[in-house]
Amino acid sequence: MKRIDHTRWLSGFRMLLAVLIVCPLFVRSQRAQSEKQESNLRQMKEIEASIEDILGQLTLEEKVAMCHAQSKFSTPGVARLGIPEIWMSDGPHGVRGEINWDNWGYAGWTNDSITAFPALTCLAATFNPALSHAYGSSLGEEARYRKKDVLLGPGVNIYRTPLNGRNFEYMGEDPFLASEMVVPYIKGVQQNGVAACVKHFALNNQEKWRNYVDVKVSDRALHEIYLPAFKAAVEKGNVWAVMGSYNKFRGQYCSHHEFLINTILKGDWAFDGVVITDWGSAHDTREAALYGLDMEMGTGTDGLTTTLTNAYDNYYLANPFLEMLKSGEVPEEVLDDKVRRILRLMFRTNMNPDRGMGRMNNQEHLDVARKVASEGMVLLKNQGRFFPLDPDKEMTVAVIGENATRSMTQGGGSSELKARVEVSPLEGLRQRFPKATFLHSLGYSSGPSVYGRVEPAPYDADSLRQEALAMASKADKVLFIGGLNKSHLQDCEGGDRENLRLPFGQDNLLSEILKVNKNVGVVLISGNAVRMPWVDEVQGILQAWYAGSMAGHALADILSGDVNPSGKLPFTFPETLVENAAHSFGEASYPGIKKDQEYKEGIFVGYRWHETQKIKPLFPFGFGLSYTDFKVSQVKTNAEKYGSNDTVTISFKIENTGVRAGAEVVQVYMGKPDSKIARPTRELKGFQKLDLKPGESQTAEIRIPVSSFRYYNEDISDWALEPGDYSLYVGNASDHAYSTLEIAVSRD
Ligand code: BGC
Repeated sequence: MKRIDHTRWLSGFRMLLAVLIVCPLFVRSQRAQSEKQESNLRQMKEIEASIEDILGQLTLEEKVAMCHAQSKFSTPGVARLGIPEIWMSDGPHGVRGEINWDNWGYAGWTNDSITAFPALTCLAATFNPALSHAYGSSLGEEARYRKKDVLLGPGVNIYRTPLNGRNFEYMGEDPFLASEMVVPYIKGVQQNGVAACVKHFALNNQEKWRNYVDVKVSDRALHEIYLPAFKAAVEKGNVWAVMGSYNKFRGQYCSHHEFLINTILKGDWAFDGVVITDWGSAHDTREAALYGLDMEMGTGTDGLTTTLTNAYDNYYLANPFLEMLKSGEVPEEVLDDKVRRILRLMFRTNMNPDRGMGRMNNQEHLDVARKVASEGMVLLKNQGRFFPLDPDKEMTVAVIGENATRSMTQGGGSSELKARVEVSPLEGLRQRFPKATFLHSLGYSSGPSVYGRVEPAPYDADSLRQEALAMASKADKVLFIGGLNKSHLQDCEGGDRENLRLPFGQDNLLSEILKVNKNVGVVLISGNAVRMPWVDEVQGILQAWYAGSMAGHALADILSGDVNPSGKLPFTFPETLVENAAHSFGEASYPGIKKDQEYKEGIFVGYRWHETQKIKPLFPFGFGLSYTDFKVSQVKTNAEKYGSNDTVTISFKIENTGVRAGAEVVQVYMGKPDSKIARPTRELKGFQKLDLKPGESQTAEIRIPVSSFRYYNEDISDWALEPGDYSLYVGNASDHAYSTLEIAVSRD
């Protein structure tokens, strides 16, 4: 007799049940999705129709007025039609304190203190796009609460030289990393009905001479290195505003640049938002009118308070523009295109009746700031497991260095913040390590910063030094908390650093401290790489960035081991300045000769240079240690051959083999060793951050479209795929692969 197989019957029944349940759910979700798409489309059409309607009612004068500032950070509305003003604010890391109507002074409000989020280098170092979204949405909520319609950030200029005073405001040296991190930030901000304004478009890679330097760079480097993050911001992030830059590119100012704005941004990428100048970066009415600028801000700094006539009427896109329109020199259609974009921005922001109300200084925002800060800190060295320090132990720790107590949310230029809370490193440590005795000595003093300038130090350098050495000699451990600060010629807008060294005598001080105590851990607060002549002698090094409101708590999270470090460097630390690509080509390449500069290294920026030239960096891009260990195995691709439209899926197993929970960033770099064209040995093409408990293992996948292997072919002015064999390096830093996979790619 045939026996009935109950298990098979049961599994068949289960499958049928699943189909019956899942199918209608699937159909319903598909239907809901397409209904949503249709309603979005309908809404967009209605908005476009309203824009045309409003345009028809505006006078020439009213339209021109909408294209330029009425104050430092606002543009006028049209009261008779109920069109509101547009209000903007810096910047990438928090909503800036309220600025006076007509000059750069602070308005002195008591209700404009905000949450300071960590600087963008720290965000980039998390390698965590989901966290970037949380950052953007929290920041957008604060901007909304402060009644801002446009937030002037994020910044995605590529880290080309460690001297650039504004690197801390950007997302590192790699175009793929910056693209992956900028898109969720923008979506997060904009979901609040606040426009992000991605900046500074383009090639603003140094502060020195930023107002006039004329950059020459190959088309290939432009498309492969300097534009991708902007492109992602537009095409994937749907950013609503873009800020032009101060500098020139191939002889033309970037804020009204025919090729960059008309051809690429608004043409190739179909950007439908507003191009805003950087503050004072417009130079010519005709060019501003014709070469894509929509809104002029910040021209001149003397506004109404120092002139008798309305200074704003003299802007390039004000009366001189009106004259040209009236005389027919510039057709009205040019103006209408600008106003259409401005109205579109308004329908997305201050004329969107559905936007929320925002929130500010709430616990969730502080939590996001703390998480970004602790996830972004990068452990560079940990000899003999110097870190973490045991919070249950009684010990005497000499905390030496000005940055242990200095405010780092102030200074730096336009990204300066008025933080409601700023927990200093020393304060954070004292709270988390109640059993330890913390002695603190400045050790050195940079002097106070008076908007951008370092004033002479108020203390005698030698007495500070003596005090620090005495303290270090009697402590169990020394924590040197130094680095750069936000003053002029440090990490600060408007100027570059003068060299790669730590300033204010810190190197000498450190070497003297090491003579009296060997147990030294260094915490570097900076947004830039520095030279480290003491690297072999200290026990531990932590790159702790400018970490915002929760800086001290986040530092204590890492140093106590409450949070296992998982940050990875978003840029290379070279040993010396000339080992950096831009600097290795001399003055013509940085800072330029007179006003001319050529990016002679082309596409070989950052680790692309170090890897290709085989110059060992001090610390490589993508590198960062952990308190636990990870093992990556079973690394494979889903196929060996791929066509140009395929996606390569790399799967691997990762195991936390240590005793602490932690996260690792698995990174995939692509190379083509037999390439017929000049190529970097490795280029980052994918990464994934994975959280694992001790002993836990996971299998994971990283998907990379073959189209991302293309290079920019200058002969055809387009992207091209080179067929043949490619290597994929799967590892945890630009110079370290667990496994190398070989695949073949064809053009079909
Ligand atoms: C900076 C911009 C900033 C603007 C307004 C300029 O100096 O370059 O990034 O958004 O000022 O403060």
